[in-house]
Amino acid sequence: MKIVSLFGSPRARANSSLIAERFCATAQKLGAEVRAFTLNDLNFRGCQGCYACKTKLDRCALKDDLTEVLEAVRETDILVLASSVYYWDISAQLKAFLDRTFSFLVPDFITNPQKSRLEPGKKLVLILAQNNPDKDSFTNIFQKFDYFFRAYGFTDTRQIRAFGTNDPGVVETHQDVMELAEKAAHEMCGGNQ
Ligand SMILES: Cc1cc2nc3c(=O)[nH]c(=O)nc-3n(C[C@H](O)[C@H](O)[C@H](O)COP(=O)(O)O)c2cc1C
Repeated sequence: MKIVSLFGSPRARANSSLIAERFCATAQKLGAEVRAFTLNDLNFRGCQGCYACKTKLDRCALKDDLTEVLEAVRETDILVLASSVYYWDISAQLKAFLDRTFSFLVPDFITNPQKSRLEPGKKLVLILAQNNPDKDSFTNIFQKFDYFFRAYGFTDTRQIRAFGTNDPGVVETHQDVMELAEKAAHEMCGGNQ
């Protein structure tokens, strides 16, 4: 089982990253192979809208630090995306990654029921940390990811959320959230609790 984990928060001991690390550490104990990337440390640009991935290439035309990440995502079984909530949405770093996944779509994706260049059956965990304690806030973030990653052929998409986590590292005291990360790893990597 291969896992690619992308940290979208720019800060050290980010709560979203810590949840992702707990998921990955649990999965590793179950035999999974994990590759993790901190997007803020990478040198890459957002999608340039050149449409080369629709007209002449089956990959993104940009060659930068995200090239390796996109290749790893193509090969992975589970994709973990972790982000702070910024302005009711994901961080700019994770949004820039998301836009570059446009290259996963076939040229006629709008009309073709087979929209994706990826092998079907991958799994997604979206991890979000926010300061707002209201669990009913920002529910549309996962809805968007669910829609797009299902179009990419992902069949198991789920989210783990942390609330009231402004201080770096504070999520380590949110035992319920950390347990959710462990439980999801067990469920998705086929182990028993
Ligand atoms: C630029 C910026 C925008 C933010 N916007 C929101 C927001 O819209 N809603 C919210 O609940 N918290 C917001 N926050 C707080 C963060 O979501 C919160 O600190 C979160 O726990 C950070 O996650 P991290 O520890 O993974 O980086 C914002 C913080 C920053 C710096």
